[in-house]
Amino acid sequence: MTKTVGASILAAGKGTRLNFDCPKPLLPALGLKLIDYPVLALKNFYKNNGLSGEITAVTGFEKEQVESYLGESYPDIKFALQKEQLGTADALKSYFKGNSNAKDFDYTIVICADTPLISEVEISSLYKEAISKNLDAVVASFEAINPTGYGRIVRSNPGFHIVEEKDASDEIKKITEVNSGFYLIKTKYILENLNNIDTNNKSGEFYLTDLFKDNLNVAPMKFDNESIFMGVNTLAQLSKANFALRKIKNIQLMNEGVYIVDPNHTQIDWNVEIESNVTIHQNCSLYGSTKVSSGTQIMQGCVIENSFIGKNSTIKPYSHIESSKIGNSSSIGPFAHLRPGSEIGDSCKIGNFVETKKSKLENNVSVSHLSYVGDAEVGSNVNIGCGFITCNYDGANKHKTIIGPGSFIGSDTQMIAPINIGKESYIASGSTINKDVPDGAFAIARGKQVTKEDMAKRFIKKK
Ligand code: UD1
Ligand code: MG
Repeated sequence: MTKTVGASILAAGKGTRLNFDCPKPLLPALGLKLIDYPVLALKNFYKNNGLSGEITAVTGFEKEQVESYLGESYPDIKFALQKEQLGTADALKSYFKGNSNAKDFDYTIVICADTPLISEVEISSLYKEAISKNLDAVVASFEAINPTGYGRIVRSNPGFHIVEEKDASDEIKKITEVNSGFYLIKTKYILENLNNIDTNNKSGEFYLTDLFKDNLNVAPMKFDNESIFMGVNTLAQLSKANFALRKIKNIQLMNEGVYIVDPNHTQIDWNVEIESNVTIHQNCSLYGSTKVSSGTQIMQGCVIENSFIGKNSTIKPYSHIESSKIGNSSSIGPFAHLRPGSEIGDSCKIGNFVETKKSKLENNVSVSHLSYVGDAEVGSNVNIGCGFITCNYDGANKHKTIIGPGSFIGSDTQMIAPINIGKESYIASGSTINKDVPDGAFAIARGKQVTKEDMAKRFIKKK
């Protein structure tokens, strides 16, 4: 018969060892927050095993911040309040107090908010182990190269118990099999034993690890990949976890046909989507909800945030693209800065030292060198020369520049917005345009040249 499984994520702790002004569950990790990872792993576990259940976050320290983030991201998540952080066993008591359905599930998963690498695979393994051996509890354990800080697993047969670092004798400290803090337990077993836990230990806390005892029907399940169970208690561990998550993401993308030339120096956030046949060169960062389409090349040192890149485009070195959209077969950079709201069409060329902002450039527009295009609408087949500026800000308000399709804008021109340039018009180089130009017109607005023969020697000093 299919079992029901409730899940509690322990997220009420202070994170004292971080010395950082952010509640631990909300620390950043590859574009998400630390607590997103157990939530996503649990959701996949339920989905892939066809199980129903509820995910409850036990919150306490900075509860408002943690709950508001989770509530917005996962409308179906439940919360249970741990008023005082009296230890992990007390956190589990709070879970049963805070969620009235909790005691009705056959099994209860306990996972910590600070172990982001545990995936649906490990949760499923623990579940299958508990069911197949009809165990009252299974604890995920692993061999730690450096076990310092972890609870040590002391096996007896049957059963086992856990000794926390602070309470361990020198002999126990030598044990390298440690507790991951991730458990699957029969709910009935928890309810029978949870209230018997005391604070008789060096920390004076209620240890959840005291649920497990020698000679009972409980067992550790040893996993062989230590890094998966890494707990984040310090900023050094956060950086290590970020690196491990990055590796997982990059390998997954490479398996799907994305060529990442130097994966150790390429940061691609967890939710970034990249189609096959994309090449990403070294030192690139792709953040947030960025999407990159097939056939595109992203060259060295680019930073792309929350943006869409179409097919067969090239993002040349050291370009920065923020909340923008780029079409197919376009070329951006080197050293281009696309600020939020830039929409670049197909077959466009945005060259070096060009900045765009809140502007729509239709297909086949070329802005090749040293220009600023802000609050503009540029029609298709427009060529903009070197050193073009939209003067969009009058010190109080921003104004629009509209350039009709097929126009040619000479080098070193300024458009004093608001301004409207008609289609197929021609603006002479060096012009400062402050009046609208109708369709098909030629406009020139620059000082007349004066040339005086033989006068140069007055200004060039004789050697
Ligand atoms: C815990 C385990 C340890 C294990 C390690 C794995 C206990 C007593 N120890 O130690 O055996 O090797 O995890 O990473 O359980 N929390 C609350 N309320 C509290 C205290 C903690 O919600 O009152 C939450 C924290 O937010 C955190 C999780 O429980 O997400 C674990 O707490 P933490 O203080 O990190 O425990 P460890 O010392 O790492
Ligand atoms: Mg921890």
